[in-house]
Amino acid sequence: MDPSSNSPGSPGPLLDIRGVSKTMGGKLILDEVSLNLNKGELKVLIGPSGGGKSTLLQCAHFLVVPDAGDVFLDGESAREMGKKDIRLFREKIGMIFQDFNLFDHLNARDNVAVALRRVKGMRKAPAYKRAEEELERVGLGGKEDLYPAQLSGGQKQRVSIARALAMDPKVMLLDEPTSALDPELIGEVLNVIQDLFQSGMTMLMVTHQVGFARHLTKEILFMEDGRITERGSPEELLDENSPSRAGLFCRKLSEVTGR
Ligand SMILES: Nc1ncnc2c1ncn2[C@@H]1O[C@H](COP(=O)(O)OP(=O)(O)O)[C@@H](O)[C@H]1O
Ligand SMILES: [Mg+2]
Repeated sequence: MDPSSNSPGSPGPLLDIRGVSKTMGGKLILDEVSLNLNKGELKVLIGPSGGGKSTLLQCAHFLVVPDAGDVFLDGESAREMGKKDIRLFREKIGMIFQDFNLFDHLNARDNVAVALRRVKGMRKAPAYKRAEEELERVGLGGKEDLYPAQLSGGQKQRVSIARALAMDPKVMLLDEPTSALDPELIGEVLNVIQDLFQSGMTMLMVTHQVGFARHLTKEILFMEDGRITERGSPEELLDENSPSRAGLFCRKLSEVTGR
């Protein structure tokens, strides 16, 4: 498909990562990686540490500018955008990180409201109202006044999801959102992510929660050494007897974690 014919709002992938390459510190980190997400789709990226998953998400957001290739959101090329448009492009892509990235000196309400006020220029009262709605949505109604230090890891990650949602993203990129959590807190965060998916959010998620991936996603992408080397349904890749690299990787993972 010719990207120039793919006008905004036209059918076609919502997020389209095409042939993205990146070299850092003299090492090829991403080697012509392509993947796309249709509206309402969830895809899961798995693979060994150092394979380039985080770098790929950062390139998808143009936080890191790829050396080659491009990213299209709703048919619009990130590479061709000027400063103002690229800022809007980034606002439409919600990022969730392993370590939450909250401001420690702000309570939950302010952590969510701060971007609404600074980036969207909202006044305090409507920003707080929206923040409270989003906190309620992730099950944190009543916790608005608590600071990160007073919240569990699972609650902190839910604040960070509320903050992303408040910006009305079209797509969410989640980079190992439960990896920093104690095992008993993982479920509450996965439940919020599952609710989001079921409400129609488009998502690309790096995770090693194989059970979650198997249950929700239609396509798993296996990434190593800067390339997506396998892609397919959970059944194709993860079945007990599947000879795939992804299957082997996940079986090893469950031997280590018992999950
Ligand atoms: N800023 C950087 N400069 C040089 N190398 C980097 C940088 N960021 C990441 N890398 C390297 O890129 C490779 C892929 O890293 P990353 O994207 O974090 O992989 P993953 O998320 O799959 O673990 C690793 O070898 C890492 O050391
Ligand atoms: Mg990573």
